[in-house]
Amino acid sequence: MGTKTAQRPPMWLNGKLVPAAEAQIDFLTPGLHYGMGVFEGIRCYRTPRGPAVFRLPEHMTRLLNSARVLGWRELPYGVPELVMACVETIRASGHDECYVRPLIWLAEGGWNLNVDGGRPHFGIAVWEWKAYLGPEAMENGVRANVSSFTRHHPNVMMTKAKICGNYPNSFLAKTESLRLGFEEAIMLDAQGLVAECTGENIFLVKDGVLVTPPDATVLEGLTRDSIIQIAREMGLEVVKQPVSRDALYAAEEVFVCGTAAEVVALREIDFRTIGAGRMGPLTRKLQAAYLAAARGQLPGHERWLTPVTSTASGGFAATG
Ligand SMILES: Cc1ncc(COP(=O)(O)O)c(C=O)c1O
Repeated sequence: MGTKTAQRPPMWLNGKLVPAAEAQIDFLTPGLHYGMGVFEGIRCYRTPRGPAVFRLPEHMTRLLNSARVLGWRELPYGVPELVMACVETIRASGHDECYVRPLIWLAEGGWNLNVDGGRPHFGIAVWEWKAYLGPEAMENGVRANVSSFTRHHPNVMMTKAKICGNYPNSFLAKTESLRLGFEEAIMLDAQGLVAECTGENIFLVKDGVLVTPPDATVLEGLTRDSIIQIAREMGLEVVKQPVSRDALYAAEEVFVCGTAAEVVALREIDFRTIGAGRMGPLTRKLQAAYLAAARGQLPGHERWLTPVTSTASGGFAATG
């Protein structure tokens, strides 16, 4: 990103596409002041049948669930309308690979800290966003630290929802991590067990079994869900169970996954080498299968893709 608005493609605002320069938000918007918004991060990939969005209806379902968790009781759009809006915005951008950012925020009131005092506004923007953790990360993995900041307690900040106001916690941890010379931070929950990273879920491999922390305190990532499904199809055992920090140190492999980061190995944690100190064989296999699914090249996973350009020959299977 970082480009001037004049160079940016149109954005979708409250029901219609508008030029980026017109997609302005009033300084007096409660969502901006109080973190009262919910968002999604989605990727559109180039596939043999044209650009397609990975797990779009599931992302839109999570967006609306996040909005409900935040307290909105009535919303003007449902999943089908938001899916269409994303597709239209991508089409208008001309991108065949891009990141998609839908956002619902509190506007038109709510200064008295009451979500019912304002109204939800909707926006969707797209931009080209390549390797989130840097170009080398996909092949070489990254170095991580266990953050000095604790992940939100689920009865404080609603960790199931992608709420804007949850993310200063991620900013604190990630900024600290980068300033210390690492590339990503692992966050422990309020009980001191491994939760997730600042924008990714985490897996470890122990005795060939794939282990990820339970759902309770983490964002239930769609990449995590895709990896679990793909791994089970490969015949791997996958378990969700509490993970201690030292279990990471002693793992054969550790990797993180998320829409932005995709699948990236952690080759070192807190100055301990993980496994052989490079991407392990299972991580490599899962990374390749995940990217193949996202690019329409993993047979049996076409249902995860929503085509951006509808083709006369039918495109992908319907995704809802
Ligand atoms: C805190 C956090 N955990 C996990 C994830 C991974 O979620 P997903 O795979 O749906 O992108 C994200 C990214 O959205 C995140 O911000």
